[in-house]
Amino acid sequence: MKRTHTCGELNKKQVGKKVILMGWCDVRRDHGGLIFIDLRDRWGKTQIVFDPSVAQAAQGLAKEIRSEFVLEVEGKVRKRPQGMENKKLPTGEIEVVVQCLKILNRCPTPPFEISDQADVAEEVRLKYRFLDLRRPSMQNYLILRHKTAQAVRNYLSKQNFLEVETPVLTRSTPEGARDYLVPSRVQPGKFFALPQSPQLFKQLLMVSGFDKYFQIVKCFRDEDLRADRQPEFTQVDIEASFVSRDDILEMVEGLIQTVFKEVSVKNIKKSFDRLNYKDAMNWYGSDKPDRRVPWKIEDVSEIFKNSPFKIFSQAAEQGKVIKALKVTPAQDLARKDFESLESEVKGLGAKGLGWAKLTSEGWQSPIAKNFSDQDKEGLLKKLKLKANDAVLFVADEWAVACQVLGALRLSLGKKLKVFDEKTTDLCWVLDFPLFEWSAADNRYVSVHHPFTSPHLEDLSLMNGSDLSKVRSLGYDLVMNGYEIGGGSIRIHDRDLQQKVFETLKISAEEATRRFGFLLSALEYGAPPHGGIALGFDRLVMLLANCSSIRDVIAFPKTTSATCLMTEAPSEVDEAQLKELHIQIKS
Ligand code: AMO
Repeated sequence: MKRTHTCGELNKKQVGKKVILMGWCDVRRDHGGLIFIDLRDRWGKTQIVFDPSVAQAAQGLAKEIRSEFVLEVEGKVRKRPQGMENKKLPTGEIEVVVQCLKILNRCPTPPFEISDQADVAEEVRLKYRFLDLRRPSMQNYLILRHKTAQAVRNYLSKQNFLEVETPVLTRSTPEGARDYLVPSRVQPGKFFALPQSPQLFKQLLMVSGFDKYFQIVKCFRDEDLRADRQPEFTQVDIEASFVSRDDILEMVEGLIQTVFKEVSVKNIKKSFDRLNYKDAMNWYGSDKPDRRVPWKIEDVSEIFKNSPFKIFSQAAEQGKVIKALKVTPAQDLARKDFESLESEVKGLGAKGLGWAKLTSEGWQSPIAKNFSDQDKEGLLKKLKLKANDAVLFVADEWAVACQVLGALRLSLGKKLKVFDEKTTDLCWVLDFPLFEWSAADNRYVSVHHPFTSPHLEDLSLMNGSDLSKVRSLGYDLVMNGYEIGGGSIRIHDRDLQQKVFETLKISAEEATRRFGFLLSALEYGAPPHGGIALGFDRLVMLLANCSSIRDVIAFPKTTSATCLMTEAPSEVDEAQLKELHIQIKS
C-alpha cells in the first residue's frame, strides 16, 4: 500500500474518498465499541475511527494499539458529526473511518509523553532526542531552520555569491576560543585543529578571485557554554572583494529582511540603526544592547563633582565616572529588592551600588541624605524624575560602571516587563576598538580577530602610546540583545598585517608558523575585501522565539559539552590510542 495523503492534509473536500495514511499513534481513546486515534506525522494529525460495524477485524486489532505505535490505515474520509469538529486542527472537520489496519511497528511506553504540553526535564529530552524531535514544536523549529537556510542560499545565490566548502581538518584559526584537536595517525605527534571559523580560507578565496563567497558551515569552539553557545555551531559565512563597510551592511540588511519576509510573520525596519561602540556602552552598558528596554544610562559625574557625598565626588576627582540608570516605573521595587541588587553587582565586579527612590514623601535611599539640594535638583532635571521612579548609581571605572548598569538595565527591564518581548529590534554596532588591553596576557589583544582592518582615519594612532583609541572597521549585528553576526573589512596589505601582529606581540616567526600561508597570499595580489559571519543557530532561535539554541539544533550538546544520547565524548580502545601515538595519563 502507498500513502495517499499526509496526516495534515485531509479536509471537507476529500469527504467520501478512500485514503491510505501512515503515522504514529498520538492519542488513543477507547469508547468501548468505537476507538478513536489521532494519527500523527510531520504534517499534522488526523482523527481515525475504528467502528466494529464497519470493520470488525481492524477494530479488534486496534485494541492492541498504544502510544507511538506505527500504523498504516486504509479507510474512508467522512465529515465529523455536528458539534464534534475541532476548529484548532486543519483536519478538524473530518475523520477517517478505518477499513483496514496494519501495525507497522510497536513501541514500549515512551519515557515521556510526546506532546508540547508535557513538562519534561531537558536531560531526559536530550537522552531520548529521537523522541523529543517527534514533538510538533521541535519539528516546526527544524522546518523553520530549513526554510531559513533555503532563504539564505537563494538570496546569496541571486546576488552572485558562490557556495564553496572549506576544510574541517585544518590548523588553528584565532577566534579567541580553545581549539578542538584531532590527532594525526600518519604524522605522529601532530594534530589538526577543527576550524573555529573558515576565516582564513575565505580570505584566501578572495585572493583567488572568487569575488563573492558564502558557506553555511559548522564551526567548532571549545569555550564556556551557555544558552546561546554550542561547541559546534553553524555560521552563514560571507566574504566579498572590492567592497566597503556599507556594502556589507546593506547586503546583510537585505538578507535579514528576505529571511524575515519568507519565514516570519514579524515586520522589521528596512535599514537598521547604526550605533558606535562608545555610545552602545554609554547608553546601554553593552556592545550587544537590547534596545527594547526603554531606558538609557546617563552620566551624572558632572552633577556630583562638587557633591558633599564624598564617595561620588572623590570618584569623579580620580577620573572615574558616576553613571545613573533611571528605573521607571519602580513602584514594585522595595528596599529589600535594592539590597539584593547591591549584592548582585558585587558579582559583576562593582564595588557597590547606590540607589534612591522618589516616593510621594520624598527620597527613599541610604545615600540621598548625603546629597546636596543642588545634587538632587541636578538629578531631577537630568533624569526627568517623577514619583515612583528609582535611580541606580555606580561610581567606578568607565567600563565597570557601564557593564554593571547595563546588566541591571536588562534584568530589571525584563523583571518589570517594561517592553513587549514579541517585538524585534535590530541594530549594528560599529567602530569597536581594534585592540583591548589584556591584563592576564600583559599585552594588547584583538577585539575581533587579528585580520580586522584599523579604521583608515586612525592609522596614525597605530604608532601612538594608547592603542585602545584605534578604532576598527569591524561590525556586529545585534538582535534583541544577542550578537547574531560579526565581521569586518580586512587588512589586505602585508605590511599592515605584520604591524598588527607586532602590536599583538606575535613574533615574525610565530606569525609565519601560524599564518604563513595567509601572509604569503597577501603578497600575491590580494584584493581589498571584507565579510561577516552570522550565527545561524542564534538567528533561527530568535525567529522561533526560543530562549536556547539547543531547541533549534537537532542533536545539540549539554552545557558541559557532552551528547547525552550518544554519550560522546567517550573513551576509546587502547589500540586506537596506540595508533594515534597517544597515552592517557592517569
Ligand atoms: P564571530 O566569532 O563573531 O566571527 O562569530 C560570528 C557569529 O557566530 C555566532 N557564534 C556562536 N553561535 C553559537 N555558539 C557559539 N559558540 C558561537 N560563537 C559565535 C555569533 C557570532 O556573531 N570569522 C569571524 C567572522 C568574520 O570576521 O567574518 C567570526 O567567526 O552569532
